[in-house]
Amino acid sequence: MGLLHHERYPRSGNYDPDWVLENQMGPNALWLLESLTEVMSISPGMRVLDLGCGRAMTSIFMAREFDARVWAADLWIDPVQNRTRIVEAGVDDLVTAVHAEAHALPFDKGFFDAIVSIDAYHYFGTDDLYLGYLLDYLRPGGRLGIVVPALIEEFDNAVPDHLLPFWQWEYCCFHSPSWWVRHWDKTGLVTVETADIVEEGWKDWLDFTHHSLHSMSAEMRLEAEVEIQMLRADAGANLGFARVVASESHQ
Ligand SMILES: C[S@@+](CC[C@H](N)C(=O)[O-])C[C@H]1O[C@@H](n2cnc3c(N)ncnc32)[C@H](O)[C@@H]1O
Repeated sequence: MGLLHHERYPRSGNYDPDWVLENQMGPNALWLLESLTEVMSISPGMRVLDLGCGRAMTSIFMAREFDARVWAADLWIDPVQNRTRIVEAGVDDLVTAVHAEAHALPFDKGFFDAIVSIDAYHYFGTDDLYLGYLLDYLRPGGRLGIVVPALIEEFDNAVPDHLLPFWQWEYCCFHSPSWWVRHWDKTGLVTVETADIVEEGWKDWLDFTHHSLHSMSAEMRLEAEVEIQMLRADAGANLGFARVVASESHQ
């Protein structure tokens, strides 16, 4: 099946599409991570926290593609299942599955060279105080990189009319790259290096969701069909993915 081939994301193309569809928890996590690595390098031996890793596809990817040592941390997914996936992928020497709640991380302070979070940081990271908590686990000068569903610009007053039929209150955690810059800058704890919208990210979101429909439960498919209608109606005017990278400024 060549449906998940994407010219911009050649490394992601090395992974079995059935495996990607089976383990997906949102739009293609590997594409999102590969877009992050365009602006945030992951290198051999680096200690990386994959925060909200879901089914650990991105953790496996960072180990395989960059020889990084990865801690695959997630709340909803059983680490025993993630461990099985990691062993099957042949990277159990590099990836450790951990059950973790983002506010109670079971790691030593300053342990990580980098923290990566794909399609997960918006669940907890919009809290003003969260960045300061998380940075304790990053070494001085380490990098934090996230990719999250986003608004191109913050809405002035209200949700635009064409999005209203599809809008769910939880989307209030979608923010623009400029919002993320302000949110992190105001702490004085980091230097933001990149904050942009992933080019054509909304199209990838739409295409991937469309290709995933057949692998979903009936309930998930209903939700995904509404999401597809919303993305088509919007056509990239308001929705996409924000890619934000900052380095710890060790003041
Ligand atoms: C949409 S899924 C994305 C998973 C994965 N990163 C991917 O892209 O396939 C969001 C993930 O965030 C995790 N998550 C949400 N809230 C969390 C929290 N408070 N602490 C740790 N993980 C959390 C969930 O467990 C879930 O796996």
